[in-house]
Amino acid sequence: MVSRVIPVEPFDLVVFGGTGDLAQRKILPALFRRFCAGQWPDDVQIIGAARAGFDRDGFRDVVAESMRRHAPKHCQDAGKMAAFLQRVDYVPLDASTGEGWDQLAEKLSVDRVRAFYFSVGPRLFGPLADRIKAHALATARTRIVVEKPFGHDLESARALNATLAEHFTEGQIYRIDHYLGKETVQNLMAVRFGNMLFEPLWNSQYVDHIQITVAESVGIDGREEYYDRAGAMRDMMQNHLMQLLCLIAMEPPAKFDPDAVRDEKLKVIRALDPVKPHHIVRGQFEGGTNGPGYRATVGNPRSTTESYVALRAHVSNWRWAGTPFYLRTGKRLVARSSVINVMFKDAPHSIFGEEVGRHANVLSIRLQPNEGITLKVTIKEPGPGGMRLVDVPLDMSFAEALGPGNQDPPDAYERLVMDVIRGNQTLFMRGDEVEAAWAWTDPIIAGWQARGDVPKPYDSGSTGPGDAELLMKRDGRHWQGINP
Ligand code: BG6
Repeated sequence: MVSRVIPVEPFDLVVFGGTGDLAQRKILPALFRRFCAGQWPDDVQIIGAARAGFDRDGFRDVVAESMRRHAPKHCQDAGKMAAFLQRVDYVPLDASTGEGWDQLAEKLSVDRVRAFYFSVGPRLFGPLADRIKAHALATARTRIVVEKPFGHDLESARALNATLAEHFTEGQIYRIDHYLGKETVQNLMAVRFGNMLFEPLWNSQYVDHIQITVAESVGIDGREEYYDRAGAMRDMMQNHLMQLLCLIAMEPPAKFDPDAVRDEKLKVIRALDPVKPHHIVRGQFEGGTNGPGYRATVGNPRSTTESYVALRAHVSNWRWAGTPFYLRTGKRLVARSSVINVMFKDAPHSIFGEEVGRHANVLSIRLQPNEGITLKVTIKEPGPGGMRLVDVPLDMSFAEALGPGNQDPPDAYERLVMDVIRGNQTLFMRGDEVEAAWAWTDPIIAGWQARGDVPKPYDSGSTGPGDAELLMKRDGRHWQGINP
Protein backbone atom coordinates (compact mmCIF):
# COMPACT_ATOMS: atom_id res chain seq x y z
CA MET A 1 0.00 0.00 0.00
CA VAL A 2 1.52 3.32 -1.01
CA SER A 3 0.31 6.46 0.69
CA ARG A 4 -1.82 8.81 -1.34
CA VAL A 5 -0.68 12.36 -1.97
CA ILE A 6 -3.39 15.00 -1.83
CA PRO A 7 -2.11 18.13 -3.60
CA VAL A 8 -2.26 21.47 -1.82
CA GLU A 9 -3.06 24.83 -3.39
CA PRO A 10 -0.29 27.34 -4.25
CA PHE A 11 1.24 29.10 -1.25
CA ASP A 12 3.95 31.46 -0.09
CA LEU A 13 5.88 30.34 2.95
CA VAL A 14 8.24 32.71 4.72
CA VAL A 15 10.65 31.05 7.12
CA PHE A 16 11.96 33.56 9.64
CA GLY A 17 15.21 32.15 10.98
CA GLY A 18 15.59 30.40 7.61
CA THR A 19 19.34 29.91 8.08
CA GLY A 20 18.92 28.41 11.57
CA ASP A 21 19.29 24.81 12.65
CA LEU A 22 15.60 23.89 12.80
CA ALA A 23 14.86 25.38 9.39
CA GLN A 24 17.80 23.61 7.79
CA ARG A 25 17.44 20.29 9.57
CA LYS A 26 13.66 19.91 9.66
CA ILE A 27 11.48 22.49 7.95
CA LEU A 28 13.19 22.80 4.56
CA PRO A 29 13.92 19.06 4.20
CA ALA A 30 10.24 18.40 5.02
CA LEU A 31 9.19 20.80 2.28
CA PHE A 32 11.62 19.20 -0.14
CA ARG A 33 10.25 15.77 0.61
CA ARG A 34 6.68 16.92 -0.02
CA PHE A 35 7.92 18.50 -3.24
CA CYS A 36 9.48 15.17 -4.29
CA ALA A 37 6.16 13.49 -3.49
CA GLY A 38 4.45 15.85 -5.92
CA GLN A 39 2.28 17.52 -3.33
CA TRP A 40 2.78 21.09 -4.38
CA PRO A 41 1.91 22.97 -7.52
CA ASP A 42 4.63 24.69 -9.55
CA ASP A 43 4.19 28.23 -8.41
CA VAL A 44 5.00 27.84 -4.73
CA GLN A 45 7.44 30.27 -3.12
CA ILE A 46 9.58 29.50 -0.11
CA ILE A 47 11.29 32.57 1.20
CA GLY A 48 14.05 32.31 3.78
CA ALA A 49 14.35 35.41 5.93
CA ALA A 50 17.16 36.00 8.40
CA ARG A 51 19.69 38.55 9.40
CA ALA A 52 22.66 36.65 7.98
CA GLY A 53 23.95 38.51 4.97
CA PHE A 54 23.17 36.05 2.19
CA ASP A 55 21.79 36.72 -1.23
CA ARG A 56 19.40 34.37 -2.97
CA ASP A 57 22.11 32.18 -4.51
CA GLY A 58 24.07 32.00 -1.27
CA PHE A 59 20.94 30.87 0.57
CA ARG A 60 20.16 28.31 -2.12
CA ASP A 61 23.65 26.85 -1.62
CA VAL A 62 23.01 26.51 2.10
CA VAL A 63 19.65 24.86 1.46
CA ALA A 64 21.17 22.50 -1.12
CA GLU A 65 23.76 21.38 1.41
CA SER A 66 21.05 20.77 4.03
CA MET A 67 19.04 18.71 1.57
CA ARG A 68 22.08 16.58 0.84
CA ARG A 69 22.56 15.97 4.55
CA HIS A 70 19.00 15.65 5.76
CA ALA A 71 16.70 14.64 2.92
CA PRO A 72 16.11 10.91 2.37
CA LYS A 73 17.95 8.97 -0.30
CA HIS A 74 15.06 8.69 -2.72
CA CYS A 75 14.97 12.50 -2.92
CA GLN A 76 18.68 12.83 -3.69
CA ASP A 77 18.14 13.58 -7.34
CA ALA A 78 19.95 16.48 -8.99
CA GLY A 79 16.97 17.35 -11.21
CA LYS A 80 14.52 17.44 -8.32
CA MET A 81 16.92 19.41 -6.19
CA ALA A 82 17.40 22.05 -8.92
CA ALA A 83 13.64 22.32 -9.41
CA PHE A 84 13.10 22.71 -5.67
CA LEU A 85 15.78 25.38 -5.36
CA GLN A 86 14.11 27.36 -8.16
CA ARG A 87 11.28 27.93 -5.73
CA VAL A 88 13.51 29.06 -2.90
CA ASP A 89 14.22 32.73 -2.39
CA TYR A 90 15.80 34.85 0.32
CA VAL A 91 15.30 38.24 1.95
CA PRO A 92 17.82 39.67 4.44
CA LEU A 93 15.62 41.05 7.15
CA ASP A 94 15.73 42.31 10.70
CA ALA A 95 12.82 41.83 13.09
CA SER A 96 13.72 44.79 15.24
CA THR A 97 14.45 47.35 12.53
CA GLY A 98 12.43 48.00 9.40
CA GLU A 99 15.20 46.58 7.21
CA GLY A 100 14.15 44.15 4.49
CA TRP A 101 10.37 44.30 5.08
CA ASP A 102 9.49 46.28 1.95
CA GLN A 103 11.47 43.82 -0.09
CA LEU A 104 9.61 40.94 1.53
CA ALA A 105 6.27 42.65 0.85
CA GLU A 106 7.12 42.95 -2.85
CA LYS A 107 7.85 39.27 -3.18
CA LEU A 108 4.62 38.02 -1.65
CA SER A 109 1.82 37.03 -4.00
CA VAL A 110 -1.61 38.52 -3.63
CA ASP A 111 -4.57 36.37 -2.76
CA ARG A 112 -3.08 33.03 -1.85
CA VAL A 113 -2.24 31.17 1.34
CA ARG A 114 0.57 32.97 3.08
CA ALA A 115 2.35 31.29 5.97
CA PHE A 116 4.92 32.91 8.22
CA TYR A 117 6.98 30.35 10.07
CA PHE A 118 8.58 31.81 13.22
CA SER A 119 11.59 29.51 13.45
CA VAL A 120 13.17 31.89 15.95
CA GLY A 121 13.37 32.32 19.72
CA PRO A 122 10.13 33.41 21.46
CA ARG A 123 11.50 36.87 22.25
CA LEU A 124 11.20 37.63 18.53
CA PHE A 125 7.55 36.52 18.24
CA GLY A 126 6.28 39.95 19.31
CA PRO A 127 8.56 42.05 17.08
CA LEU A 128 7.85 39.81 14.07
CA ALA A 129 4.10 39.94 14.63
CA ASP A 130 4.30 43.75 14.92
CA ARG A 131 6.25 44.09 11.67
CA ILE A 132 3.93 41.78 9.76
CA LYS A 133 1.04 43.92 10.84
CA ALA A 134 2.80 47.24 10.33
CA HIS A 135 3.66 46.31 6.76
CA ALA A 136 0.13 45.09 6.14
CA LEU A 137 1.38 41.61 5.27
CA ALA A 138 -1.35 39.78 7.16
CA THR A 139 -4.21 38.92 4.87
CA ALA A 140 -7.30 36.87 5.71
CA ARG A 141 -5.45 33.81 4.36
CA THR A 142 -2.36 34.38 6.48
CA ARG A 143 -1.19 31.87 9.07
CA ILE A 144 1.68 32.02 11.49
CA VAL A 145 3.53 29.02 12.81
CA VAL A 146 5.33 29.10 16.13
CA GLU A 147 7.66 26.54 17.64
CA LYS A 148 8.13 25.42 21.17
CA PRO A 149 9.21 26.42 23.75
CA PHE A 150 5.91 28.29 23.95
CA GLY A 151 6.76 30.10 27.15
CA HIS A 152 8.80 29.12 30.15
CA ASP A 153 5.88 29.05 32.56
CA LEU A 154 2.20 30.00 32.68
CA GLU A 155 2.87 33.71 32.94
CA SER A 156 5.21 33.87 29.95
CA ALA A 157 2.90 31.63 27.89
CA ARG A 158 -0.01 33.95 28.64
CA ALA A 159 2.08 36.93 27.64
CA LEU A 160 3.03 35.26 24.34
CA ASN A 161 -0.58 34.35 23.63
CA ALA A 162 -1.61 37.93 24.34
CA THR A 163 1.11 39.32 22.06
CA LEU A 164 0.09 37.10 19.17
CA ALA A 165 -3.60 37.76 19.80
CA GLU A 166 -3.03 41.48 19.25
CA HIS A 167 -2.47 40.79 15.57
CA PHE A 168 -3.83 37.35 14.74
CA THR A 169 -6.93 35.33 15.47
CA GLU A 170 -6.57 31.95 17.18
CA GLY A 171 -7.54 30.37 13.85
CA GLN A 172 -4.41 31.88 12.30
CA ILE A 173 -1.96 30.67 14.96
CA TYR A 174 -0.36 27.25 14.54
CA ARG A 175 1.58 26.21 17.66
CA ILE A 176 3.73 23.23 16.77
CA ASP A 177 4.29 20.23 18.98
CA HIS A 178 6.06 17.99 16.51
CA TYR A 179 4.99 14.85 18.39
CA LEU A 180 1.49 15.43 17.10
CA GLY A 181 2.78 15.13 13.55
CA LYS A 182 4.34 11.74 14.12
CA GLU A 183 2.59 9.06 12.14
CA THR A 184 2.09 6.71 15.07
CA VAL A 185 0.81 9.44 17.34
CA GLN A 186 -1.97 10.04 14.86
CA ASN A 187 -2.41 6.32 14.72
CA LEU A 188 -3.21 6.40 18.38
CA MET A 189 -6.44 8.14 17.50
CA ALA A 190 -7.07 5.79 14.58
CA VAL A 191 -6.59 2.75 16.82
CA ARG A 192 -8.74 4.10 19.62
CA PHE A 193 -11.57 5.53 17.60
CA GLY A 194 -11.47 3.45 14.43
CA ASN A 195 -11.89 0.09 16.16
CA MET A 196 -14.68 -1.31 18.26
CA LEU A 197 -12.26 -3.57 20.06
CA PHE A 198 -10.49 -1.21 22.42
CA GLU A 199 -12.83 1.60 23.37
CA PRO A 200 -15.19 -0.47 25.61
CA LEU A 201 -12.15 -1.55 27.65
CA TRP A 202 -10.53 1.88 27.69
CA ASN A 203 -11.29 2.88 31.27
CA SER A 204 -10.36 2.24 34.87
CA GLN A 205 -12.55 -0.82 35.11
CA TYR A 206 -10.28 -2.72 32.71
CA VAL A 207 -7.03 -0.75 32.60
CA ASP A 208 -4.76 -1.16 35.59
CA HIS A 209 -2.39 1.64 34.59
CA ILE A 210 -0.75 3.29 31.62
CA GLN A 211 2.95 3.84 31.02
CA ILE A 212 4.26 6.48 28.66
CA THR A 213 8.00 6.34 28.01
CA VAL A 214 9.94 8.71 25.77
CA ALA A 215 13.53 7.58 26.19
CA GLU A 216 16.37 9.19 24.28
CA SER A 217 19.91 7.98 23.92
CA VAL A 218 21.17 11.40 22.85
CA GLY A 219 22.36 14.02 25.31
CA ILE A 220 21.97 17.77 25.03
CA ASP A 221 25.05 18.67 23.06
CA GLY A 222 24.76 21.93 21.19
CA ARG A 223 21.75 23.10 23.23
CA GLU A 224 23.38 23.36 26.65
CA GLU A 225 22.30 26.88 27.45
CA TYR A 226 18.65 26.41 26.57
CA TYR A 227 18.45 22.99 28.19
CA ASP A 228 20.00 23.97 31.48
CA ARG A 229 17.27 26.60 31.86
CA ALA A 230 14.53 24.21 30.77
CA GLY A 231 15.23 20.65 31.97
CA ALA A 232 13.22 17.57 31.04
CA MET A 233 10.05 18.84 32.68
CA ARG A 234 9.78 21.90 30.47
CA ASP A 235 11.51 20.46 27.42
CA MET A 236 9.53 17.21 27.10
CA MET A 237 6.97 16.60 29.84
CA GLN A 238 4.96 19.83 29.59
CA ASN A 239 4.43 19.34 25.87
CA HIS A 240 5.23 16.03 24.16
CA LEU A 241 4.37 13.63 26.97
CA MET A 242 1.40 15.72 28.02
CA GLN A 243 0.06 15.54 24.46
CA LEU A 244 0.46 11.77 24.40
CA LEU A 245 -1.35 11.53 27.71
CA CYS A 246 -4.19 13.64 26.31
CA LEU A 247 -4.63 11.46 23.23
CA ILE A 248 -4.68 8.31 25.34
CA ALA A 249 -7.00 9.66 28.01
CA MET A 250 -9.41 11.93 26.13
CA GLU A 251 -13.06 11.19 25.48
CA PRO A 252 -13.98 10.44 21.86
CA PRO A 253 -14.47 13.77 20.11
CA ALA A 254 -17.68 13.98 18.09
CA LYS A 255 -15.64 14.68 14.96
CA PHE A 256 -12.01 14.70 13.90
CA ASP A 257 -12.03 18.44 13.67
CA PRO A 258 -9.69 20.94 15.29
CA ASP A 259 -11.84 22.30 18.06
CA ALA A 260 -13.61 19.04 18.85
CA VAL A 261 -10.25 17.29 19.36
CA ARG A 262 -8.63 20.14 21.24
CA ASP A 263 -11.64 20.61 23.52
CA GLU A 264 -11.30 16.99 24.62
CA LYS A 265 -7.54 17.28 25.16
CA LEU A 266 -8.04 20.40 27.22
CA LYS A 267 -10.52 18.61 29.47
CA VAL A 268 -7.90 15.95 30.21
CA ILE A 269 -5.27 18.51 31.19
CA ARG A 270 -7.76 20.29 33.40
CA ALA A 271 -8.72 16.99 35.05
CA LEU A 272 -5.12 16.26 36.08
CA ASP A 273 -4.54 16.28 39.82
CA PRO A 274 -1.57 18.20 41.17
CA VAL A 275 1.36 15.77 41.35
CA LYS A 276 2.49 14.85 44.86
CA PRO A 277 6.21 15.37 45.52
CA HIS A 278 6.74 11.68 46.34
CA HIS A 279 5.23 10.77 42.96
CA ILE A 280 8.03 12.42 41.01
CA VAL A 281 11.62 11.38 40.42
CA ARG A 282 14.17 13.68 38.84
CA GLY A 283 17.49 12.49 37.51
CA GLN A 284 20.68 13.83 36.00
CA PHE A 285 23.03 11.70 33.90
CA GLU A 286 26.58 11.01 34.96
CA GLY A 287 29.59 10.67 32.70
CA GLY A 288 30.39 7.36 31.05
CA THR A 289 32.12 5.84 28.08
CA ASN A 290 29.83 7.76 25.73
CA GLY A 291 30.68 11.21 27.04
CA PRO A 292 30.83 13.57 30.00
CA GLY A 293 28.12 13.87 32.61
CA TYR A 294 25.36 16.46 32.59
CA ARG A 295 27.11 19.06 34.73
CA ALA A 296 30.32 18.90 32.71
CA THR A 297 28.29 19.11 29.49
CA VAL A 298 26.55 22.32 30.52
CA GLY A 299 29.69 23.67 32.19
CA ASN A 300 27.89 24.20 35.49
CA PRO A 301 29.23 22.00 38.31
CA ARG A 302 26.27 22.89 40.53
CA SER A 303 23.45 22.56 38.03
CA THR A 304 20.31 21.04 39.52
CA THR A 305 18.48 20.82 36.21
CA GLU A 306 16.95 17.41 35.52
CA SER A 307 17.76 15.47 32.37
CA TYR A 308 15.24 12.81 33.43
CA VAL A 309 11.85 12.91 35.01
CA ALA A 310 9.37 10.19 35.93
CA LEU A 311 6.05 10.82 37.58
CA ARG A 312 2.70 9.36 38.45
CA ALA A 313 -0.26 11.38 37.23
CA HIS A 314 -3.97 11.02 37.85
CA VAL A 315 -6.74 12.07 35.55
CA SER A 316 -9.61 12.72 37.92
CA ASN A 317 -12.72 11.91 35.96
CA TRP A 318 -15.20 9.06 35.67
CA ARG A 319 -13.25 7.20 33.03
CA TRP A 320 -9.89 7.19 34.76
CA ALA A 321 -10.50 7.44 38.52
CA GLY A 322 -8.11 4.93 40.10
CA THR A 323 -5.95 4.31 37.02
CA PRO A 324 -2.54 5.95 37.37
CA PHE A 325 -0.56 7.22 34.39
CA TYR A 326 3.19 6.77 34.78
CA LEU A 327 5.21 9.05 32.53
CA ARG A 328 8.97 9.11 32.10
CA THR A 329 11.45 10.74 29.78
CA GLY A 330 15.17 11.26 29.84
CA LYS A 331 18.38 11.86 27.94
CA ARG A 332 21.33 9.52 27.54
CA LEU A 333 19.28 6.47 28.37
CA VAL A 334 19.93 2.96 27.17
CA ALA A 335 18.07 3.39 23.87
CA ARG A 336 15.91 5.70 21.82
CA SER A 337 12.47 4.33 22.37
CA SER A 338 9.05 5.94 22.70
CA VAL A 339 6.29 3.58 23.71
CA ILE A 340 2.88 3.77 25.32
CA ASN A 341 1.90 0.66 27.24
CA VAL A 342 -1.72 0.20 28.19
CA MET A 343 -1.56 -2.35 31.01
CA PHE A 344 -4.87 -4.15 31.36
CA LYS A 345 -6.04 -5.74 34.58
CA ASP A 346 -5.72 -9.44 35.30
CA ALA A 347 -8.64 -11.63 34.34
CA PRO A 348 -10.95 -11.57 37.39
CA HIS A 349 -10.79 -15.31 38.00
CA SER A 350 -8.47 -18.03 36.80
CA ILE A 351 -10.38 -21.10 35.72
CA PHE A 352 -7.04 -22.91 35.44
CA GLY A 353 -6.23 -22.57 39.11
CA GLU A 354 -3.96 -20.11 40.80
CA GLU A 355 -0.84 -22.22 40.21
CA VAL A 356 -0.74 -21.29 36.48
CA GLY A 357 -0.60 -17.64 37.49
CA ARG A 358 -2.61 -14.65 36.32
CA HIS A 359 -1.81 -12.98 33.06
CA ALA A 360 -2.73 -9.54 31.91
CA ASN A 361 -2.96 -8.11 28.43
CA VAL A 362 -0.66 -5.29 27.41
CA LEU A 363 -1.26 -3.08 24.41
CA SER A 364 2.02 -1.48 23.36
CA ILE A 365 1.96 1.37 20.91
CA ARG A 366 5.50 1.96 19.64
CA LEU A 367 5.95 5.52 18.45
CA GLN A 368 9.58 5.21 17.43
CA PRO A 369 11.62 3.51 16.22
CA ASN A 370 10.04 0.47 14.56
CA GLU A 371 6.55 2.00 14.68
CA GLY A 372 3.83 -0.49 15.38
CA ILE A 373 1.44 -2.06 17.82
CA THR A 374 1.77 -5.20 19.88
CA LEU A 375 -0.94 -6.83 21.92
CA LYS A 376 0.31 -9.28 24.48
CA VAL A 377 -2.16 -12.13 24.83
CA THR A 378 -2.18 -15.28 26.89
CA ILE A 379 -2.28 -18.70 25.26
CA LYS A 380 -1.63 -22.29 26.24
CA GLU A 381 1.99 -23.27 26.27
CA PRO A 382 2.26 -25.90 23.53
CA GLY A 383 2.82 -29.55 24.38
CA PRO A 384 1.43 -32.20 26.68
CA GLY A 385 1.64 -32.13 30.44
CA GLY A 386 -1.34 -30.09 31.49
CA MET A 387 -2.43 -26.53 31.14
CA ARG A 388 0.33 -23.97 31.36
CA LEU A 389 -0.14 -20.43 30.16
CA VAL A 390 2.29 -18.28 28.28
CA ASP A 391 2.20 -14.71 26.96
CA VAL A 392 2.80 -14.14 23.27
CA PRO A 393 2.78 -10.95 21.25
CA LEU A 394 0.27 -10.32 18.50
CA ASP A 395 2.64 -8.06 16.68
CA MET A 396 2.05 -5.59 13.92
CA SER A 397 4.94 -3.65 12.58
CA PHE A 398 3.44 -0.95 10.35
CA ALA A 399 6.32 -1.13 7.90
CA GLU A 400 5.73 -4.87 7.40
CA ALA A 401 1.95 -4.82 7.55
CA LEU A 402 1.54 -1.95 5.11
CA GLY A 403 4.23 -3.17 2.74
CA PRO A 404 6.60 -1.34 0.38
CA GLY A 405 6.25 2.42 0.31
CA ASN A 406 5.78 2.56 4.06
CA GLN A 407 9.26 1.63 5.19
CA ASP A 408 10.14 5.24 5.66
CA PRO A 409 7.26 7.05 7.40
CA PRO A 410 6.98 10.78 6.75
CA ASP A 411 8.71 13.10 9.17
CA ALA A 412 6.37 14.91 11.55
CA TYR A 413 7.18 18.26 9.96
CA GLU A 414 6.01 17.11 6.52
CA ARG A 415 2.55 16.50 7.79
CA LEU A 416 2.42 19.59 9.98
CA VAL A 417 3.68 22.07 7.40
CA MET A 418 1.18 20.77 4.83
CA ASP A 419 -1.59 21.05 7.45
CA VAL A 420 -0.68 24.71 7.89
CA ILE A 421 -1.13 25.24 4.16
CA ARG A 422 -4.43 23.33 4.19
CA GLY A 423 -5.59 25.35 7.19
CA ASN A 424 -6.13 22.33 9.41
CA GLN A 425 -5.34 23.02 13.09
CA THR A 426 -6.26 19.61 14.51
CA LEU A 427 -2.65 18.66 15.20
CA PHE A 428 -1.64 22.03 16.63
CA MET A 429 -1.95 23.22 20.21
CA ARG A 430 -4.52 25.82 21.04
CA GLY A 431 -3.54 28.71 23.32
CA ASP A 432 -5.72 27.51 26.20
CA GLU A 433 -4.22 24.00 26.00
CA VAL A 434 -0.69 25.35 26.33
CA GLU A 435 -1.68 27.52 29.26
CA ALA A 436 -3.43 24.62 31.02
CA ALA A 437 -0.33 22.46 30.55
CA TRP A 438 1.82 25.14 32.18
CA ALA A 439 -0.71 25.56 34.99
CA TRP A 440 -0.17 21.87 35.82
CA THR A 441 3.63 22.02 35.39
CA ASP A 442 4.43 25.24 37.24
CA PRO A 443 3.62 24.05 40.80
CA ILE A 444 5.79 20.96 40.26
CA ILE A 445 8.79 23.10 39.31
CA ALA A 446 8.02 25.64 42.03
CA GLY A 447 7.98 22.79 44.56
CA TRP A 448 11.46 21.64 43.49
CA GLN A 449 12.75 25.15 43.79
CA ALA A 450 11.18 25.70 47.21
CA ARG A 451 12.61 22.42 48.54
CA GLY A 452 16.02 22.90 46.92
CA ASP A 453 15.52 19.54 45.22
CA VAL A 454 18.62 17.93 43.71
CA PRO A 455 18.14 15.37 40.93
CA LYS A 456 19.31 11.79 41.49
CA PRO A 457 22.36 10.79 39.45
CA TYR A 458 21.97 8.00 36.92
CA ASP A 459 24.44 6.23 34.67
CA SER A 460 24.57 7.18 31.03
CA GLY A 461 23.24 4.30 29.00
CA SER A 462 21.00 3.06 31.85
CA THR A 463 17.22 3.10 32.22
CA GLY A 464 17.36 6.11 34.56
CA PRO A 465 17.65 6.54 38.33
CA GLY A 466 16.81 3.63 40.61
CA ASP A 467 14.19 5.74 42.37
CA ALA A 468 12.07 5.62 39.23
CA GLU A 469 11.85 1.85 39.71
CA LEU A 470 10.86 2.41 43.31
CA LEU A 471 8.08 4.76 42.22
CA MET A 472 6.52 1.76 40.49
CA LYS A 473 7.54 -0.85 43.01
CA ARG A 474 5.80 0.96 45.83
CA ASP A 475 2.59 0.51 43.82
CA GLY A 476 3.33 -3.18 43.16
CA ARG A 477 4.11 -2.47 39.50
CA HIS A 478 7.16 -2.26 37.29
CA TRP A 479 8.22 -0.42 34.16
CA GLN A 480 8.21 -2.28 30.89
CA GLY A 481 11.72 -2.52 29.38
CA ILE A 482 13.19 0.23 27.22
CA ASN A 483 13.91 -1.63 24.00
CA PRO A 484 15.00 -0.02 20.77
C1 BG6 B 1 12.37 18.32 21.22
C2 BG6 B 1 13.16 18.49 22.47
O1 BG6 B 1 11.16 19.02 21.31
O2 BG6 B 1 12.11 16.94 21.02
C3 BG6 B 1 14.45 17.69 22.40
O3 BG6 B 1 13.47 19.86 22.65
C4 BG6 B 1 14.17 16.24 22.07
O4 BG6 B 1 15.19 17.79 23.62
C5 BG6 B 1 13.27 16.15 20.86
O5 BG6 B 1 15.42 15.61 21.83
C6 BG6 B 1 12.83 14.71 20.65
O6 BG6 B 1 12.17 14.61 19.41
P1 BG6 B 1 12.20 13.24 18.59
O7 BG6 B 1 11.32 13.53 17.43
O8 BG6 B 1 13.62 12.98 18.22
O9 BG6 B 1 11.66 12.19 19.51
